[in-house]
Amino acid sequence: MDNVSTHQAEEDARNEAIQIYVNGRILPKAQAVVSVYDAGFMLGDGVWEGIRLYNGRWAFLDDHLYRLFEAALAIDLDIGMTKDQVKSALSDTQSANGMTTDAHARLMVTRGVKTRPFQHPKLSQRGPTVAIIMEHSRPKLPRPIRLATVPHMRGLPMTQDPKLNSHSKLNCILACIAAEKAGADEALMLDVHGFVNTTNACNLFVVRKGQVWTSTGDYCMNGITRGKVIDLCQANGIPVFQRNFTLVDTYSADEVFLTGTFGAQTPVGIIDGRRIGDGQIGPMTARLRDLYKALVCA
Ligand SMILES: Cc1ncc(COP(=O)(O)O)c(C=O)c1O
Repeated sequence: MDNVSTHQAEEDARNEAIQIYVNGRILPKAQAVVSVYDAGFMLGDGVWEGIRLYNGRWAFLDDHLYRLFEAALAIDLDIGMTKDQVKSALSDTQSANGMTTDAHARLMVTRGVKTRPFQHPKLSQRGPTVAIIMEHSRPKLPRPIRLATVPHMRGLPMTQDPKLNSHSKLNCILACIAAEKAGADEALMLDVHGFVNTTNACNLFVVRKGQVWTSTGDYCMNGITRGKVIDLCQANGIPVFQRNFTLVDTYSADEVFLTGTFGAQTPVGIIDGRRIGDGQIGPMTARLRDLYKALVCA
């Protein structure tokens, strides 16, 4: 079976002709480049956000900008722009691309261009580098996702806090590689205590007997889609719990789904070779997808 990903989009030839924002300039894709001395390229020293355009509006933009600025503060990176200036850069890029809906933006900020090819952050003397890649994007999922549990863990916050949307994603990438080598699409990652936490690129929910469970929120990305799904459950009388649970609870769940800005809610069909429910999208996942769609398109 071919691999699919939670970040799979329909092929769209227009993406070859997109305009990309780099440090205040909007350039054709082929000219939108950064230096090999850039801290983001050299060391993964930067933070980013993924944002989606639905019906002319960037969904939950203020939440994304809050998280971006929070992450920048945590890594002591001065974005050099206000939130309103970042919003203007986003809307200029959107206008340059003539996009009105079904677009995805990756907003990236790195510590900038270094004077020498070494680690010390002070060597970034030109910066930050701010780039926005905006693509036409309609998520396309040919079938529910298969997960494999991998040995790579969601670590403790005093190493590289797993809540940080850092450019460096090596832990998640290694997890994803391990999952693919095990014949799955994406990695299911446990926390340091062995509880089910998240995947390498999305937050994870299980549905058991009409209840919706997700991790306590420790060790995983503070996902904006995750938060909206929890809010939607609460607003619609669906019992929702942020709690510890294990693989035993997960294999026997009625439904499992993932959340993320790109794919919204993605059904999981198989985990570690065990079929989840009937292997197809379940009624709770479908209901939450509809509620979420109504929220972003409102
Ligand atoms: C590891 C990880 N988990 C979860 C998410 C989903 O977060 P959000 O719903 O804010 O897109 C992301 C997205 O960047 C991620 O990288």
